[in-house]
Amino acid sequence: MLLDEPLVLYRMDDELVVARDVCPHRGVPLTMGKSDGQGVVCPYHGLRFGNGGRCNKVPASPNAAIPARMQLYTYPAVERYGLIWTCLDPQDDSVDIPLMPHWEDPQFQQIVCPTVDIQAFAGRQLEGFLDVAHFGFVHTDTFGDPDNR
Ligand code: FES
Repeated sequence: MLLDEPLVLYRMDDELVVARDVCPHRGVPLTMGKSDGQGVVCPYHGLRFGNGGRCNKVPASPNAAIPARMQLYTYPAVERYGLIWTCLDPQDDSVDIPLMPHWEDPQFQQIVCPTVDIQAFAGRQLEGFLDVAHFGFVHTDTFGDPDNR
């Protein structure tokens, strides 16, 4: 889930695919399906989506040409710094990734934090990470200390 957009992510050969989590056939979330090594398989009728989000298998019509509309709505995807980056702007086919020059530096320790599910608007979540003044009052059970702000 990114900014309230449900996403499905899968790997095809060397390609990482990030797409809207909606099967173009009947709208079933593809995250309910599975990957069979040749793509992600929808759990409803078994359509499979592979490279570029294109459908590459229709079990009910195995010899028919696959319609072009059987294509996932994909987003750009880049894997860097231990994370998968994407952009939900359909006009932008690039991913503007912040520069982290110390990531490859052995003098620094790289830490990828586990995900945290917060039921809040994305802007409010970001504000929470930037607002360090609340640490000493809200996070007293972990690292916060109201006398050390
Ligand atoms: S809804 Fe996905 S294959 Fe039919």
